Amino acid sequence: MSQNHNSANFKLNRGFLIAVEGIDGAGKSSLLTILTSLLTTQNLPVILTREPGGTPLGQKLRQILQERAVPACAKAEYLLFAADRAEHFETVIIPQLKLNQIVISDRMADSSLVYQGYGRGLDLTKLKFVNQWAMNNLTPDLVLYLRLDPATAYARLAQRAQILKTELSSFEKEKSDFAARIAQGFDQIFANRSDVLILDGVLTSAELAQQAAAKILELVKN
Ligand code: TYD
Repeated sequence: MSQNHNSANFKLNRGFLIAVEGIDGAGKSSLLTILTSLLTTQNLPVILTREPGGTPLGQKLRQILQERAVPACAKAEYLLFAADRAEHFETVIIPQLKLNQIVISDRMADSSLVYQGYGRGLDLTKLKFVNQWAMNNLTPDLVLYLRLDPATAYARLAQRAQILKTELSSFEKEKSDFAARIAQGFDQIFANRSDVLILDGVLTSAELAQQAAAKILELVKN
């Protein structure tokens, strides 16, 4: 879903990497749509991308991960996300950062720590090590954590599936104790981290986008 909202008017002297994280149903997609257009109207060069699925290989991996037509153990599942990440950094994120773009990714490494670490019980140290390798030792300049309680998020997902007459994806159908571990995992890894802006998911997407845009403007203009 890489979209280039490039503008010739505003030149940054370096690229900025921003990750957007949160549980399923927290409202990342709506926030990202409004945020991207807010930044674009400020003439900022923004690339919107995602994990998994920000590259041609990633789209295939995303399909495998979402459909889960064949079983994958926790390590295999993680390594598919890591493969997606490696390809994403090599072919999209690093080249775009070199062009001084603001690269905003819908999910990144912290999703693996939470879903595969807290959710599936994989060793966090190992996940961090492989993530670093996949990311060429880069880390986001800013993480936007869209925080929402799991019950509200689930109700939103179920309502959306009903409106669209679609099935919940396999990740969305995970048992509620998994969802609770994910929510706790995000809260834990993002507590006391200076690179994280916590956004309250009960606010409207427009309000959330305003808060996020203000933080991003502060970051890139300093
Ligand atoms: P997402 O794109 O946010 O879902 P959608 O757009 O379908 O609402 O994320 C897809 C799922 O993949 C989500 O449940 C979280 C999961 N995920 C992991 O388990 N580990 C990871 O490293 C990443 C990036 C995502």
